[in-house]
Amino acid sequence: MTTVNTEKLSSARFAEATDAFVEEFTASVGFDWRMAQQDIQGSLAHAAMLCKIGILTEQELADIQRGLAQISEEIQRGEFVWSVKQEDVHMNIEARLTDLIGIAGKKLHTGRSRNDQVATDIRLYLRSEITTIQQQLRRLQLALLTVAEREADTIMPGFTHLQVAQPVTFGHHLMAWFEMLSRDHERLQDCYKRVNIMPLGAAALAGTSYPLDRFMTAELLGFSRPSNNSLDSVSDRDFAIEFAAVGSLIMLHLSRFSEELVLWASAQFNFIDIPDAFCTGSSIMPQKKNPDVPELVRGKSGRVTGHLMSLLMLMKSQPLAYNKDNQEDKEPLFDVADTLINCLRAFADMLPHIRAKHENMYQAAKRGFATATDLADYLVRKGMAFRDAHEVVGQAVRLGLDTDRDLSELNLSELQAFSQLIEADVFAILTLEGSVASRKLIGGTAPDTVRLAIAAAKKAMEAQNNG
Ligand code: ARG
Repeated sequence: MTTVNTEKLSSARFAEATDAFVEEFTASVGFDWRMAQQDIQGSLAHAAMLCKIGILTEQELADIQRGLAQISEEIQRGEFVWSVKQEDVHMNIEARLTDLIGIAGKKLHTGRSRNDQVATDIRLYLRSEITTIQQQLRRLQLALLTVAEREADTIMPGFTHLQVAQPVTFGHHLMAWFEMLSRDHERLQDCYKRVNIMPLGAAALAGTSYPLDRFMTAELLGFSRPSNNSLDSVSDRDFAIEFAAVGSLIMLHLSRFSEELVLWASAQFNFIDIPDAFCTGSSIMPQKKNPDVPELVRGKSGRVTGHLMSLLMLMKSQPLAYNKDNQEDKEPLFDVADTLINCLRAFADMLPHIRAKHENMYQAAKRGFATATDLADYLVRKGMAFRDAHEVVGQAVRLGLDTDRDLSELNLSELQAFSQLIEADVFAILTLEGSVASRKLIGGTAPDTVRLAIAAAKKAMEAQNNG
């Protein structure tokens, strides 16, 4: 984007010119130009409404429409000349409009202030970003469903405290990430409702004496309704904070997911292979293949949460109504949206190409006495109290550790030395396959249950798409 110094935003109120540094310091056009199309969209609706209530003639409206269409094209072609003298995106567009069409351009701002204008622009901008983020989120969820289906029978260790706990299926593990992202999608949906309310008509802070038809403007812009209170409309940015909070949770989920991918791709775990296209090498160590995409996503979660903190602190201590502090909301917000879109996209692109190393996962589950709980449950089914069973199995694990064998590798008489309740049928439940298959209650890790969960998730997604 290029900016030049054209004529100052003129006002007869000022006897002196603005200090050159202050002009640069207070200008926001260097970043808020990104809301140009939303600003034009808002102005078109405002102008149509002004015409309907008789403030603009049909001819003036037509001039404004023609001028704004030309400006929109100039911006898209990269030909629009942004000026720091005009301070922000709003004044730049208005000044250009007046250059192009004359007097009608000067009438556009009737009954409007930059305060309700900027609040409207941000909401329009966020609306479209939320939709794009949701689309990328959906892509990632679909990728998770595809891989989960492929890996519904794959056995891996499930962890607590990063110690092998019980065997799970890889499909089940992936569906845990699916659930988190589903809630994120819902949170975005909910946030959208509060974003989608129209501030125009609040004017500077107190409303306006012109008989604006706020319902008409809201409808033209696709807002659910006009806002209720003018002071609130121009000052609060809670909807933006909420968006950053939802974004932080999404990044938190992606960061945890990233951490697992990084661990699993290491030589120590060796559970997965991340395709070359999503990794890079080292400039010094020829053997290296680094999981850059998940690492970077994990790192970027920090900046999004940082932006949430910025926005919270920005709002704190602001008296009603609008204060210039609020100009600082845009850079964090833009970066939250950009980061989310890019990270979700990278994940959605990468996930289907991740290869699970089934044998390594299986052996890792075998090494960690992952079926110890199954043995305890077996004893309970034969009549022993759970706490006693816990103790008995602890002794069996001790023997396994001392003799470097898994529970399924101990022989029957060794096991019977710990409890006479143990019989030959015990070996069926000591296998990893038997263990996962037995957890078939709703929400459990059994392959058949996971397949049902995947089918239900697909159906829910389709219903949402159609609804
Ligand atoms: N650039 C300003 C912002 O981002 C627009 C609103 C300015 N309003 C004002 N009264 N100075 O908040």
